[in-house]
Parts: sequence; C-alpha cells; structure tokens
Amino acid sequence: MTIRITWARAAAAILALALAGLLFAWSGVFNIAASSGHWKITDWFLHWTMRNSVRTHAAFTAPDDPKAKEGLVSAAGLFKASCTSCHGAPGVRPLPVMQAATPPAPNLSINAREWTDKQIFWILKHGVKYTGMPGWAAKDRDDEVRRMVAFVRLLPEMTPATYRSLTEVPGVTEAKIATCAGCHGADGRGRGQPDMPVLGGQSPAYLRAALEAYATGKRQSAVMANAAATLTPEDMTRLADHFAAMPGIGGVKPSGSTEAAKIDREGLPKVQLPACASCHAPGKPYPVLAGQRASYIAQRLRNWRGDATVVDARKSQSTMPVIARRIPEDMIDPLAQYFAGR
Ligand code: HEC
Ligand code: HEC
Ligand code: HEC
Repeated sequence: MTIRITWARAAAAILALALAGLLFAWSGVFNIAASSGHWKITDWFLHWTMRNSVRTHAAFTAPDDPKAKEGLVSAAGLFKASCTSCHGAPGVRPLPVMQAATPPAPNLSINAREWTDKQIFWILKHGVKYTGMPGWAAKDRDDEVRRMVAFVRLLPEMTPATYRSLTEVPGVTEAKIATCAGCHGADGRGRGQPDMPVLGGQSPAYLRAALEAYATGKRQSAVMANAAATLTPEDMTRLADHFAAMPGIGGVKPSGSTEAAKIDREGLPKVQLPACASCHAPGKPYPVLAGQRASYIAQRLRNWRGDATVVDARKSQSTMPVIARRIPEDMIDPLAQYFAGR
C-alpha cells in the first residue's frame, strides 16, 4: 500500500502537530523554571539565532558612525545605575539574584570583544527578546546610545580605578546629591563633558520643571529619566534649588559672530524666526542661555530639529522645536558659541 501525499493530508499533519504542541504547552509538562537552565543544545541554538538576528539587523539599520568620540561620563553613570545589577562592572560584581536568570547576563569585559560597534549599537537600542536585556529607555536618542557604545567598547581594558573616576566625584557626602554630582560635578558645571548642561546659576523653576519632564517622559533622555525616576516632588525642588544656587551660568556676556548676535536680538523675519532675546532674557521664565556650554546648546537645538527625531516635540507644548527648525543649519554652531560667550 502506498500513501499518497496530498495537500489535504499535509495540512492535516501540520494541524495535528500544532495541536500536539498546544497540548504539550497546555499540559504544563514543559519546564520553564529559570533554575533548570537550558540544555546545551538549546543554549547554543538560542545564541546562534540571536547572533544571526543581530548581524542582519545591525547591518541594515545601525548608523555608520555608531560610536561617539566623547562624553563617557554620562554613559558610565547610566551604566552604574541601570546595567551593573545584571552585568557587573570593573571592580563590581553583578547581583547574584540577576545571575540566577536564564540566560544570565554576560560579563561585558569579555563579551564586548565579540561584537562590532554597529552590532553593540543595535543591541543597546533594541534589547534582546526573551533574555531580560532591555532596549534603550528613550525615543530618538541615538546620541545617548552612541555614547554607551563607546563606553561598552572600553570595558575590556577598563580598570576599577578608571571606572570609579568616571562615576564618582570626591567631596559630596549626601547620597542623593552625590548621585547627581557623579555626572554634573560637585559644582554643577558638568565635569567638562560636552553633553552636560551647566546647572549652576540656571533658573531653579526651570531646573525643577526639567526634572519633572524627564521623570514623566515628556523630555526624552534615558540618562536623566533614570536619574529622575525615583525623586519625590520634594527632592526635585530641593535638588533644583541646590544646583541653581551655585555659581556657573551668569555674569557671562554673549559674544562672537555678529550674525548670531543679530538673530539673538532681532531674529530672522524672512523665515519667521523670532528673536531669542524676546524669551531668553533675564527676569523671564525661560532657561538662561548666556554662559551655557556651547556643545550642549547645539545638541539640544539639533535634537529638536531632526527630521525623524522629534525629541520631546511630540508630547510637549514647547515652541522650541518649531523655532529650532527655522534656524539655518550653518547658524547652529555660531549661535551656540555666541551664547556660551566664546
Ligand atoms: C535584567 C538584566 C539586564 C540588564 C538590566 C541589562 N542587560 Fe544587557 N544583557 C542581559 C542579558 C541576559 C544579555 C544576553 C542576551 C543574549 O546573549 O542572548 C545581555 C546582553 C547585552 C549585550 C550583548 C553582549 C552579549 O554577548 O550578549 C550588551 C552589549 C549589553 N547587554 C549591554 C547592556 C547595557 C549597556 C545595559 C544598561 C543600559 C544592560 N545591558 C542592561 C541582561 C541585562
Ligand atoms: C548619569 C549621568 C547623570 C546623572 C546621574 C544626573 N544627570 Fe542630570 N543630566 C545629564 C545629562 C547628560 C543631561 C542632558 C540631557 C539631555 O540631553 O536632555 C542632564 C540634564 C539635566 C537637567 C536639565 C538642565 C537643562 O538645562 O535643561 C537637570 C535639571 C538635571 N540634569 C538635574 C539632575 C539632578 C538633580 C540629578 C540628580 C538627581 C541629575 N541630573 C543626575 C546627566 C546626568
Ligand atoms: C517664544 C519663546 C522662545 C523663543 C523666541 C526662543 N526660545 Fe528657546 N526656549 C524656550 C522655552 C520655553 C524653552 C524651554 C523648553 C523646554 O524645556 O522644553 C527653551 C529652551 C531653549 C534651549 C534649551 C536650554 C537648556 O538649558 O536646555 C535652547 C538651547 C534654546 N531655547 C535656544 C533658543 C535660541 C537659539 C533661540 C533663538 C533662535 C530661542 N531659543 C528662542 C522659549 C523660547
């Protein structure tokens, strides 16, 4: 007797298999206990699948410059606050409870070598399904992801002393302030980091509002969302006041390009760009720009402008995204340097 394979029989066989699978899942016999680990073959298969997926997706979607050249402090600080519990860090062990997961998070001092920059970028931005590895916690902040790629890249060679110097500053005793100071510096000047705003001398109400906006996701930043997430309303007010009261911004007179000065005072009527000074002037409820770090000003303006990237324009009612898009691209850096007073 010969069995002829017909479409109907093939379909019935597939259906039977699917039903058997469903029955198996329903029976509860499959052991999903993390404590039982994976079989070697499952482990190999999952990792092989993950590597292939990362390779393919990274090749097509990761940017060609996936790694930032400067700004390690904010990446190190975020790593300390949100990655070490699983991965550990130079001189810091991962939490045992996290290492009891299946799969346990790899030691990046070893594993970072296995991946290209583009692949690390892709993993950090999107995370890895079924493993606990989370995706980036803010939308449209590839600049933050790129800084983390640079940091992860350095982990294999990083000493515990270097790691500590990136994440801690001496001389701050109060725990909450020390966390902020790890990135912003004990003096609120941002440790010379290009992505870090000067907080000292800024309007306290503005700093308070910024913390709230980070915590609620109205302003997108994985770095600051994490720092602001656990603050109470009282903490926010106190920390804003603490940093605003320091010297920093203030006493700086904008100077530099005459074209930038003109945009500040008069705007560009032909493209309906309003004068910056109509809002950003002493005594008004807007952030102070004079004396702010040039690289930070330029970064914020560019984040607001991006085509696909609509950082905090989507949710906030702020007028700045519209204004930023009207500034001619070749005036961004001159304006930023002008406000910084250089
Ligand atoms: C809840 C635990 C957990 C947290 C938190 C976590 N990770 Fe992971 N991470 C993992 C696991 C598990 C993997 C392994 C995924 C795999 O190989 O399939 C992983 C993989 C990675 C990889 C790829 C390395 C490799 O060989 O798989 C990098 C890079 C990485 N994580 C960086 C980070 C960074 C940076 C952070 C913080 C922003 C972070 N992780 C937070 C669990 C975590
Ligand atoms: C891991 C590093 C890091 C830590 C820790 C950190 N910050 Fe920040 N902070 C940054 C970076 C980077 C930015 C710029 C973010 C952006 O691009 O929006 C920023 C922005 C801010 C701003 C907005 C300033 C402006 O001009 O708009 C405020 C306010 C602020 N931080 C306060 C704090 C306070 C208070 C703490 C402590 C609870 C803290 N930060 C902890 C890195 C950090
Ligand atoms: C209509 C009022 C208005 C005008 C005009 C205006 N701004 Fe703003 N600007 C704001 C407001 C409001 C914020 C705070 C936005 C927020 O936090 O979401 C801001 C924030 C900024 C910031 C971020 C400051 C920080 O500490 O993070 C920069 C940079 C900036 N403006 C640059 C400019 C420049 C350059 C011009 C002129 C071309 C300009 N602004 C004109 C209202 C204005």
